[in-house]
Amino acid sequence: MINGSPKIKDSCSEYLIDEITKLLDNKTEVTVCNASDKTLNKGQFNSIYNCDAIVFVFPLYVDAIPSHLISFLEAFQKYLKEQPVKNISAYAVSNCGFFEGNQNKYALDIIENYCERTGLIWKYGLGIGAGPFIGESKSISWKTFIKKPVFNAMLDFKNSLETGEHPNGNIFVTAKIPRHMYIWAAHIGWRKQAKKNNLKTKDLYTKLK
Ligand SMILES: Cc1cc2nc3c(=O)[nH]c(=O)nc-3n(C[C@H](O)[C@H](O)[C@H](O)COP(=O)(O)O)c2cc1C
Repeated sequence: MINGSPKIKDSCSEYLIDEITKLLDNKTEVTVCNASDKTLNKGQFNSIYNCDAIVFVFPLYVDAIPSHLISFLEAFQKYLKEQPVKNISAYAVSNCGFFEGNQNKYALDIIENYCERTGLIWKYGLGIGAGPFIGESKSISWKTFIKKPVFNAMLDFKNSLETGEHPNGNIFVTAKIPRHMYIWAAHIGWRKQAKKNNLKTKDLYTKLK
């Protein structure tokens, strides 16, 4: 699994990787690597290449993928070009700040195009909305109705990783909370973060010169 979040800890991507890993049967061995790790070398690319499947797990940035993940993909593409062709399945899990999971659709298309270009065998992508909520909901059980839609999608995802069977197209889900409540909570979050960084709410609307 490739963690494409630049956050050092507590990212939603990291949480999703941990939870999907917990769901997998004990025959499945998982290696996690961080796309923002500047020390990634040929040895680490070798261990990714030796896997049967690669899962790119990342946050949506400006309707696309974070730039350091692009750098990682470019380096890995270069590496793959020098290797014998090998059947490696590829999946992606993108999470976003928008409430709607389908906001991730272009980012998943980017990964699908990358697979076509590099010879990885694209399976499908999971686009998850309300990522900041999911990332901070560790104390809430996956069985609650709020998180259940995402949990069910993760169960299908783990089944696909184990069997190789997959749906015909990407799957989009979000938490089962009222959209307006999520947006209201997000605004509180922005303001708190601004305060922590010695900014006032109005500073967030100041035009850059
Ligand atoms: C630079 C930047 C750009 C972002 N662009 C988008 C975006 O276009 N659409 C969106 O829904 N969320 C966007 N987000 C929100 C993140 O996708 C969201 O916070 C996500 O949950 C972070 O995941 P992570 O914790 O795994 O890093 C952006 C966040 C940052 C920092």
